[in-house]
Amino acid sequence: MKNVLVTGGAGYIGSHTCKALAAAGVQPVSFDDLSGGDEALVRWGPLVVGDLRDTARLAATIKQHAVDAVIHFAGRIAVGESVAAPWLHYGANVAGSLSLLEAMRQGGARHLVFSSSAAVYGLPDVPWVSEEMPLQPISPYGRTKLMIEQALRDYAAASEQRAIALRYFNAAGADPDGETGELHEPETHLIPLALAALDGGKPLTVFGDDYDTPDGTCIRDYVHVTDLADAHVRALAALESGDAPAALNVGSGRGYSVREVLTVIEQVVGRAVPICMGQRRAGDPARLVADARRIRQALDWTPAHSTLPEIVASAWAWHRGGAKATRGQVEAA
Ligand code: UFG
Repeated sequence: MKNVLVTGGAGYIGSHTCKALAAAGVQPVSFDDLSGGDEALVRWGPLVVGDLRDTARLAATIKQHAVDAVIHFAGRIAVGESVAAPWLHYGANVAGSLSLLEAMRQGGARHLVFSSSAAVYGLPDVPWVSEEMPLQPISPYGRTKLMIEQALRDYAAASEQRAIALRYFNAAGADPDGETGELHEPETHLIPLALAALDGGKPLTVFGDDYDTPDGTCIRDYVHVTDLADAHVRALAALESGDAPAALNVGSGRGYSVREVLTVIEQVVGRAVPICMGQRRAGDPARLVADARRIRQALDWTPAHSTLPEIVASAWAWHRGGAKATRGQVEAA
């Protein structure tokens, strides 16, 4: 069986992708420092606990498992944190990624699928954002992603390494079988915070209702994490066939406002999310929705689970079941 190294394999998108790889007959080898991920989510292959900046350890792992392809999720994700403590993001996302690229060179691994972000676009003032839009990130987090995208192009021009950067829009939802899901600590994302508010947590703060959108709240493109995982499996195949574009948006192409998300949650769960109205959050664009035509064509990918009711229902099932059970295991350990 072919082995693929998955950095951040114990994390949210990483663990869903490990499941998708295993279903495609590929063995995922997770490399994770468990700072943001959870060992309990590593269910589809071995786990190597290590720091991405330990180039020698990474290179040894690549050699030991005869890895030719890497999917690179590990990194810091909170935009606000990147403003307050940019060293954390430059250290993990830039230094960590460069260490991985060097380990791939030393270990002879040629293919990389890189977790990039719609944050590379900054505040695009268009209804649908295509890959051709100017790359003008407004946060240190977004800049770390853009820097690595640029490094990947330079490495590809000078070596055998080939990479594809997947620019995620809003990953959401959970594994339909309840085997993995979102477990961020602290949680900053809209849907899990809204579900926690429904379940006795503190009311959800809506970050602004004075945006230039039909209901005044921000519009985002939510893509089911299972569809996102499928995009990674397809991206690997495209790299192997030598036919991969440098960067692709991964989104559904459909936007929902914060209020629309809250309405769907109420419909799915049967209760209204307790909310309070807050100030705008710095750096939030009014609307961020993917032009997702290129990925559909390049990877023959269609988001099969990314309707908002399906996303919310799977997230709610995970919140009530798997997340509590997994947290319980961690607390009991
Ligand atoms: N929101 C709230 N209250 C909350 C949390 C979020 O109103 O407590 C709103 C946000 O203002 C935004 C929407 O819900 O309008 C979605 O916010 P998330 O924090 O869930 O997601 P973001 O769109 O901010 O972030 C996502 C990814 C980031 C990435 C960014 C690109 O999670 O990693 O898109 O802009 F950088």
